[in-house]
Amino acid sequence: MLCRIVGAPVQDGAGRMGCEMGPSALRTAGLVAALRELGHEVEDLGAVQPAAPRPVVHGNVALKALPEISAWTAVIAERAYQASDSGMPIFLGGDHSISAGTLAGLARRAAERRRPLFVLWLDAHPDFHTLDTTSSGNLHGVPLAYAAGQPGFSGYFPDLPATVDPKRICALGLRSVDPAERRALAEAGVTVHDMRAVDEHGVAPLLRAFLERVAAEDGLLHVSLDVDFLDPSIAPAVGTTVPGGATFREAHLVMEMLSDSGLVASLDLVELNPFLDERGRTATLMVDLTASLMGRRIMDRPTRSF
Ligand code: ARG
Ligand code: MN
Ligand code: MN
Ligand code: MN
Repeated sequence: MLCRIVGAPVQDGAGRMGCEMGPSALRTAGLVAALRELGHEVEDLGAVQPAAPRPVVHGNVALKALPEISAWTAVIAERAYQASDSGMPIFLGGDHSISAGTLAGLARRAAERRRPLFVLWLDAHPDFHTLDTTSSGNLHGVPLAYAAGQPGFSGYFPDLPATVDPKRICALGLRSVDPAERRALAEAGVTVHDMRAVDEHGVAPLLRAFLERVAAEDGLLHVSLDVDFLDPSIAPAVGTTVPGGATFREAHLVMEMLSDSGLVASLDLVELNPFLDERGRTATLMVDLTASLMGRRIMDRPTRSF
């Protein structure tokens, strides 16, 4: 597989600085070597360059860095569209606002190919606020709503050539959902498996059911992995830690099942804040999870299935 690495050093969407260093930390933790060891070809497309802030003003005074994130979204969308013309793009965040761009570009690509785009959102949070409902004003809290065509982004974020059907989104690992997001997720028909569901059923059957849907529609699957999907005890390098996250074993199982499915077309690695890390352990874990997704195994399995 040709892996195409795209750096997106964005930090203005998070409440604190540091995610700008994410791509460097993932590279330092050995991402490229890990992929090559698994037999993949790696093409490093370098970093997306920030564009001039777009002069947009919004009535929600809580919003932070809207001109900057709006500009980043446009350039990341274009880069994601280009990078997805062959191979598997891997986007290195950057805070989760980069997914406004990656999803915009990937949705455009999928529409062009007449393939349905599915999204697996691995996160403590759904990031399903609109510009009107966010009260923190941190724009890493809005990318999934934007890409899913929720109202109120027009004129502020770039117009979307194609949206992601909310019914083709599965959010797994949620444990911090704001009231406005809860309502919007339910109304839009997003599949939500919160940590309560993980506790009750385990990750495997929840993920398997979603993968079966992707396969049945011959979909393209995008995986968006937020560091805070993971429990803070194993992944401290994130500004928005929430207790009770995925364990080491659960996270690797998710990645291995995704690998076995053969359905994953693109990946975001987001919210890594190296300033908050402990001797690189979170960056290393994110690289190891990526390796599991890209085929690293403890033992060969008798069958390749999910
Ligand atoms: N819902 C909260 C907010 O809107 C938290 C969002 C956290 N998002 C993230 N990508 N870490 O501020
Ligand atoms: Mn997130
Ligand atoms: Mn999160
Ligand atoms: Mn919020």
